[in-house]
Amino acid sequence: MRAWPTNLPGVHVANLSLTDFRSYDTVDLGLEPGVTAFVGPNGQGKTNLVEALGYVATQSSHRVANDGPLVRQGAARAIVRAVVVREDRRALIELEINPGKANRARLNRSPVSRPRDVVGLLRTVLFAPEDLAMVKGDPSERRRYLDDLLVARTPRFAGVRADYDRVLKQRGALLRTAAQARRGGRSGRRADNDAAFAAAGAGDPLSTLEVWDAHLARHGAELLAARLELVEALRPLVAASYAALAPNSAPAALEYRGSLSIEAETDRATLEERLRAGLLEVRTSEIERGVTLVGPHRDDLFLGLGELPARGYASHGESWSFALALRLAAYDLLRADGGDPVLILDDVFAELDNQRRGRLAEIVAPAEQVLITAAVAADVPAELVGARFDVAEGSVQRVR
Ligand SMILES: Nc1ncnc2c1ncn2[C@@H]1O[C@H](COP(=O)(O)OP(=O)(O)OP(=O)(O)O)[C@@H](O)[C@H]1O
Ligand SMILES: [Mg+2]
Repeated sequence: MRAWPTNLPGVHVANLSLTDFRSYDTVDLGLEPGVTAFVGPNGQGKTNLVEALGYVATQSSHRVANDGPLVRQGAARAIVRAVVVREDRRALIELEINPGKANRARLNRSPVSRPRDVVGLLRTVLFAPEDLAMVKGDPSERRRYLDDLLVARTPRFAGVRADYDRVLKQRGALLRTAAQARRGGRSGRRADNDAAFAAAGAGDPLSTLEVWDAHLARHGAELLAARLELVEALRPLVAASYAALAPNSAPAALEYRGSLSIEAETDRATLEERLRAGLLEVRTSEIERGVTLVGPHRDDLFLGLGELPARGYASHGESWSFALALRLAAYDLLRADGGDPVLILDDVFAELDNQRRGRLAEIVAPAEQVLITAAVAADVPAELVGARFDVAEGSVQRVR
C-alpha cells in the first residue's frame, strides 16, 4: 500500500527529559522503538510530552505560535533534552527555551552557534487535532504545512524562510511609513507630504523600495521554487493516502495557488523575475495599503475533492481524512529521503470511525517508532501493541 518503500535506517528517541516545560517541573522517560502509548484523563500532560518532542524536531510547537506558554508557569525558562538514535549513533540534543530572548542549544553537551543547527537530527511527523485547520483554516495553515515539511526535508530552508520573513517585515515597515506619510498628506500641505514620503525611505523611497524588491524576489523565488517542487512530489502521495483512508470518497487533489500565475516547472531565475515584475505592478496599491501584496506569503495550497474545494465543502470526516492524508504524505516523503521519522499521533484515533482507525493503524504500525496519546486505552487500536505509560497528575508511570 505505501507507495515509497525504503531501506534507509530510521530514527527513534531513546530518552526524553523535561525541566519546567508546560505542566512538568521535571520528567525523565526512557523510550524504545516500536509503539508507545501515553494514556490518561484530559488535561494531565499527555500532549505536553509529545509537544516537547515535536519541539526538538522543529523548534516550534504545533499548538502555539510563540514559546511563552511552553515554559512552566512561574519558571523563567524550560529545558528539553532528547537522545536520538539512528542505527548505532546517538545524539543528545538539549534545548533551552527562553521566551523573549534567544534560545540556546547543545549537541552532545557542546553549545552550537545557532539553535537552528540541530534542526534535522530528529525528524517527526505529528498528527494532532489541530491538523483539521490545514483543511478548514486560512491559507497560512497550509503554507505552514508546506514550509515545515521543506525544513524537515532540507534543514537549510529554515534559513531561507527566516530570510524571507525578515525582508518581508522590513519592506512592510517601509511601505507602512510611506502609506502613513501619504495619508498624513491628504490633510496637510503638499510640500510637507512629499518631504514625509521621502523621509520614509531614508532617501529616495522608490529606490529604497527597489532594493527591498530585489531581496524579496530573491528569497521569495527560492521558497517558491521549493514549494512548487514539493507540491509535485506530494500530489500522488496525498491522493493515494486519501484513497486508502476514504475509498468511497471523490479523489483528493492538490494545487499550488500563487499570487502570480506560474507553472510547476518554472525555474528559480524566472520566478525571481516574475516576482519583481509582480511587485512593480502592484506598487501603487502597496503604497496605499502599506502591505506587500505579491509573494509566497500570500499564496495558498488548494485542496480539492473531486470537482469541489475541500474547504467549505468537505464533510467533517472527509476533512479529517484529508488532514491525515497530508501528514501521511509527509511521512512517505521523509522516509523516502532519510529513513523513518518518528510518528506522533496526538489524540487522533478518538476522532476516527473504526474503518479509518484500522487503516491508519495498519499504515503506521511498521514505523520505527510511534508515540500515541489517548484519553482511554480503548482508543489505541489493537494493532498497535507496545509500551504504555499512564499519565496523571503530573506523573508519568510505565505500566507495560
Ligand atoms: N506553561 C504551563 N505551565 C503550567 N501548566 C501548564 C502550562 N501549559 C499547560 N499547562 C497545563 O497542562 C495541562 C494540559 O496538558 P496537556 O495538553 O498535555 O493535556 P492532555 O493530557 O493532552 O489532555 P487532553 O486529553 O485533554 O488532550 C493543562 O492542565 C494546562 O493547564
Ligand atoms: Mg492532549
